[in-house]
Amino acid sequence: MTGTGIKKVALVTGAGSGIGRACALKMLEHGYSVVLAGRRQAPLDAVVEEAQQLGGDALAVACDVTDADSVAALFDTIRSRRGRLDVLFNNAGRNGSPVDIDELDVDEWRSVVDTNLTGVFLCTRAAFGLMKTQTPRGGRIINNGSISAHAPRPNSIAYTATKHAITGITKAVSLDGRKYDIVCGQIDIGNAATEMAERMARGVPQANGEIAVEPLMDVQHVADAVLHMAELPLSANVQFMTIMASKMPFVGRG
Ligand SMILES: NC(=O)c1ccc[n+]([C@@H]2O[C@H](COP(=O)([O-])OP(=O)(O)OC[C@H]3O[C@@H](n4cnc5c(N)ncnc54)[C@H](OP(=O)(O)O)[C@@H]3O)[C@@H](O)[C@H]2O)c1
Repeated sequence: MTGTGIKKVALVTGAGSGIGRACALKMLEHGYSVVLAGRRQAPLDAVVEEAQQLGGDALAVACDVTDADSVAALFDTIRSRRGRLDVLFNNAGRNGSPVDIDELDVDEWRSVVDTNLTGVFLCTRAAFGLMKTQTPRGGRIINNGSISAHAPRPNSIAYTATKHAITGITKAVSLDGRKYDIVCGQIDIGNAATEMAERMARGVPQANGEIAVEPLMDVQHVADAVLHMAELPLSANVQFMTIMASKMPFVGRG
């Protein structure tokens, strides 16, 4: 609830699957009104149906975060149907093909940048405008970075570059948001068991050229962490959080 007893409104991008789905359901369980966005309507509708069976207040809006008009339409819907926004979870993202840098298609580079970086900017820009003018003022933006915001995997230039750039967005929004009570934090996740990460269980290239199976963690731990970040009062912020499968190769350089 906001300070005035109104239900908190959250927007989760990429809410039809994986981390976004788990976080949206977790927030619904905890009384948030959740707007779910993603390109495909069907998976969003499936989450809404699941939420409604549990008595949750969910709204699915098909949106491509790379498209400025689509994001503007999403925020028009949030304004008209929910009236405010308390939490934005910038979660939608994609990987690039695991190829040598010289073999990465320029269009694919642009698509990863559009999704992971420009998409986050467009949603943040719209949320910032709404949060600074609504009453009560302010809100929270949570960016989904990655362990790749700290260290690359082999053959991941586009993903690594965009996830490093998320850290810049998080810091810039934290600074510029201060005067409007807009806070911004980042969650850097390592190996949560989702479709995107399932290749870890089959074996993935390591820095030394070996292929190794990597441990995964339950995506519910991420949902719990995001809920914790969302639930803080605007006077407190988890600026950065790293949550990862404890024994994945990262700390210790392998
Ligand atoms: N799983 C992990 O271990 C891990 C680790 C570090 C970071 N992450 C980050 O976590 C986020 C979610 O990943 P995940 O593992 O949950 O994978 P996922 O299941 O593939 O989720 C990605 C979501 O993003 C949506 N999406 C992709 N492009 C979009 C676009 N242009 N506009 C709107 N929505 C779009 C997809 O839905 P549509 O296809 O319907 O649009 C999908 O629901 C990503 O940012 C990823 O980088 C994951």
